[in-house]
Amino acid sequence: MTPKLIDTLAAPLRAPFWLAGVLGTEKSFLANPIIGSPYLNRLGLHRARVRLAAAMARRRRAAMAARLDPADRAAFDRDGFVVRPDFLPPEAFDALRGAVFGGVHPAREMRQGGTVTRMTPLSDPPLAPARAFAAREDVAALIGYAAGRSGAPVMFLQTVFADPARGGVDPQTALHADTFHATGKLWLFLTDVGENDGPFVFVPGSHRLTPERLAWEHEQSLTARGDARRHHALGSFRIAPEGLAALGYGAPRRMMVKANTLIVADTYGFHHRAPSPRPTTRVEIHGYLRRNPFLPWNGLDPAGLPGVRGRQLDLYFGWLDLRRQHLGAGSIWKDYGPVAVDAPAGGQAR
Ligand SMILES: [Fe+2]
Repeated sequence: MTPKLIDTLAAPLRAPFWLAGVLGTEKSFLANPIIGSPYLNRLGLHRARVRLAAAMARRRRAAMAARLDPADRAAFDRDGFVVRPDFLPPEAFDALRGAVFGGVHPAREMRQGGTVTRMTPLSDPPLAPARAFAAREDVAALIGYAAGRSGAPVMFLQTVFADPARGGVDPQTALHADTFHATGKLWLFLTDVGENDGPFVFVPGSHRLTPERLAWEHEQSLTARGDARRHHALGSFRIAPEGLAALGYGAPRRMMVKANTLIVADTYGFHHRAPSPRPTTRVEIHGYLRRNPFLPWNGLDPAGLPGVRGRQLDLYFGWLDLRRQHLGAGSIWKDYGPVAVDAPAGGQAR
């Protein structure tokens, strides 16, 4: 039997999983033939998912609004992001930096084009000040509101090494939406991020579903499966900056920030990482929260259960290790052993 024939015969077995994906967070027009179907999308499948998810996010956000500082809520509703300079008291921020930069910690690295991303779980005992930040109720409230649904975010230390000399295109530097529904991301920057340090760029207001955006979403869904831009086909729609005005949005804003600034954003809004013209290293606590967008209630997150909460990244790495040991499966996340957060990438110079 050919692999294609096996695939065809196995399709009925996989159909329930594809259907479950349609009712959940699945976004890929390539991996899921229901979501990718130009026929179903002409009938309005993608448009219906986008519209229902946005309506549910509105409803769940209304239920969460009282947990936010009114100024943060107003900024978020208007722009799709909140910027909080000097987020931690100076002594707390110094203690956090001391713990993060003061030693080596287990970590993994992944390369995308000229950019290497290092993820350091917060579970290493000396990282207690980082865990204290991750456990804050006000931080959970902000990312829950941005995500349009409260829950237990995944948080870790992230180091981004950008080096244009390494070549290749980093897919994160193209203007895009992460998925078809509200989703929360946060960054507590531990280093300054200047004009040339690959700052975060966001299109203010682009988290709002305008009638023009909905029509654009529908249009993209008809051809996304065959689109040459791989991440577009995987459901993170790319857009040229010239296309923003037609959707009712303004110009992208670059976020140059000082260390100890917190940014929380709904990355359904269009955003990207500005390309760096020179080698740069950015260190931050990064978090994300993406949950089923169709359910009307907040909370009830399995990731919030004891033993899982705060350990999601360790569990994910453990699962990757099991796959490697038992199935010989490779991973894009490479383990070079314990390392300082700002040590050179790729296991070099250690
Ligand atoms: Fe993104």
